[in-house]
Amino acid sequence: MPSGGRMSVDFRYLLAGKKYLRPAPSLDLFASPDHLDPDLKLFLDEASSRLCAWLANAGQSGPLPSLSVLPDVSPSIEGLPAKDLLDDLQLVMEGAYQPSHPGALAHLDPPPLTASIVADLICAGLNNNLLAEELSPSLSRLERQICNWFAERIGMPSGSGGVAASGGTLSNLMALVLARHKAGLQNDPSAVVLASQDAHVSFVKAARVMGLSSDSFQKVKVDSKGQISIRHLQEQLTQLRVEGRRCFAVVATAGTTIRGAIDPLQRLHEICSKDDLWLHVDGAIGGIFSLCNSTAHLLKGLSKANSITLNPQKLLGIAKTSSLLLVANKVDLISTFSTGLPYIEPPWGEEVHGGEIGLQGSRSGEVLKLWLGLRQLGEKGIQSLLEQAIYRRNYLEQKLNTSKLNINSGPLHLLACTPHKLDNRASEKWATETRRKLLDNKFLVSRPVQNGRHFLKIVLGNPHTQLSHLDQLSVLMNQSVES
Ligand SMILES: Cc1ncc(COP(=O)(O)O)c(C=O)c1O
Repeated sequence: MPSGGRMSVDFRYLLAGKKYLRPAPSLDLFASPDHLDPDLKLFLDEASSRLCAWLANAGQSGPLPSLSVLPDVSPSIEGLPAKDLLDDLQLVMEGAYQPSHPGALAHLDPPPLTASIVADLICAGLNNNLLAEELSPSLSRLERQICNWFAERIGMPSGSGGVAASGGTLSNLMALVLARHKAGLQNDPSAVVLASQDAHVSFVKAARVMGLSSDSFQKVKVDSKGQISIRHLQEQLTQLRVEGRRCFAVVATAGTTIRGAIDPLQRLHEICSKDDLWLHVDGAIGGIFSLCNSTAHLLKGLSKANSITLNPQKLLGIAKTSSLLLVANKVDLISTFSTGLPYIEPPWGEEVHGGEIGLQGSRSGEVLKLWLGLRQLGEKGIQSLLEQAIYRRNYLEQKLNTSKLNINSGPLHLLACTPHKLDNRASEKWATETRRKLLDNKFLVSRPVQNGRHFLKIVLGNPHTQLSHLDQLSVLMNQSVES
């Protein structure tokens, strides 16, 4: 075991002017630049054994641990050796949510692909910075190429590209900042963005960050399928014209958070292009289905969007965080976000530094785990992951008692349900009690509220969930509405 945080025995008191400094920290704490460091290797081996054991125990443990003990938070005076650090880590692991349990069905957080775990570890070891080319020579290029690959696969025009971001909230914020900048409306707090009432809450945050007035994020009604109502959208656009207000973006959602509905992208593109409006598609949940031959038709029109958010962390199993903002014209990213980096060497060739094409400055090479994960899955793996998820949703939907349960589901891998007969208040009691009962049986589902009504939501993106688990889940759900 490495000596961990212990100070080197060779105490080197450094003289700086007349003042004695503390001893230099042991160099054992950093991997040797001259030879393979046996202590680091042992540390990593032991850490990965413990992680593998934690993952292997998922089936026994259940998706949610009981309240666990946390290790000390403050650093000890002398620092700790590796063994103690690993024991502390173990305590945190024991209290962690377990996405690999087959009953982990509450959220859009599937188990991580093994290649993405490995790539994340390597990424930490490389400690490169996507801020600038010389701090991440290979990773900067990899990020550009992966974004180009996604844009091309979706069918976006030539000149398209993108940037990685730490989560869909940030991708959506960048998209709106970009759209407003392109429209030249940065100084107009009354400029409007329109999105359906089921669009993700990240747009509310974006509107606040952007200093938009309280009625500048305007919601548009959805129809019975949870898709944006085209009629209401058109009425709202007309009303804005009457009021002399400018709209800088229309947001479409490809996969809404509660039921997985996909807005009519092609129709929205037609409306937006007629009025020269920016169309942003929040495809954090559903955009990825455009990679699969059997589901790409669900996203018809996606390729025409001006910008698209994708979250490979959601269904592809790329370890968090992994999100991309794709744009039809990558020059727009530069004109919106570039400030110049006066303390950094110019980029090589024609390209632009990674810190100049988005909101983040220093950022890690998150693209590494996305790239390695895609390489591990291969085309067949990607298709089957997506198709299986939809198959599981279909299967469960057919098993649920629709005479008692109202099922809200789009064409993707999530569904939400609530009993027909209950009023809002009774639906809360039902959702709370049923969720508790399901958790006793090691199923974790979520409990969203929409228009005052409580639902149970089930996300079927966990590849460990077998049909037998869904049989058991449906029996419990159906029992919950038996009178
Ligand atoms: C449709 C949609 N967009 C955006 C987001 C935000 O993504 P993130 O949590 O990665 O910030 C979510 C999160 O669930 C979402 O469902």
